[in-house]
Amino acid sequence: MRGLRDKVVIVTGGARGIGAALCDRLAEEGARVAIFDLLLSDSAVTRTWQVDITDHRAVADAVADVESAIGPIDVLINNAGLNRPAAFISTQPADWRLMIGEQLYRAAQPCIMRWRL
Ligand SMILES: NC(=O)c1ccc[n+]([C@@H]2O[C@H](COP(=O)([O-])OP(=O)(O)OC[C@H]3O[C@@H](n4cnc5c(N)ncnc54)[C@H](O)[C@@H]3O)[C@@H](O)[C@H]2O)c1
Repeated sequence: MRGLRDKVVIVTGGARGIGAALCDRLAEEGARVAIFDLLLSDSAVTRTWQVDITDHRAVADAVADVESAIGPIDVLINNAGLNRPAAFISTQPADWRLMIGEQLYRAAQPCIMRWRL
């Protein structure tokens, strides 16, 4: 994580868990961290946009807002996701669709919106 001083970094799902740990580390490196999460979790060094990353319009608005508030986006960390832990053989079709389909869809949204703007 070197070389990120003053870089603008969006971390999806940065309000807790792995994403929050990433945000702390990025902030230590001097990055300007924008969190996209359903939960609010502002700190002294990060700012949160409360956004559902499956919502196209909300993501587009949040991306535009980050760029005007902090600057052009340098890095996107697609961390937000969901998990339905179960043994491979007993995972239900609906859970596969949710974990794989939703995960990829979620990961794609901020990227798509960034390049459409
Ligand atoms: N924890 C693990 O052992 C593990 C293992 C493999 C993969 N992962 C993946 O790593 C990532 C982070 O895992 P974690 O354990 O920290 O998860 P977590 O559930 O603790 O945190 C996920 C964060 O994402 C946010 N989020 C979820 N859906 C969102 C949405 N639609 N819009 C905006 N924000 C949303 C949640 O509010 C939460 O803050 C996930 O993608 C998860 O699937 C985790």
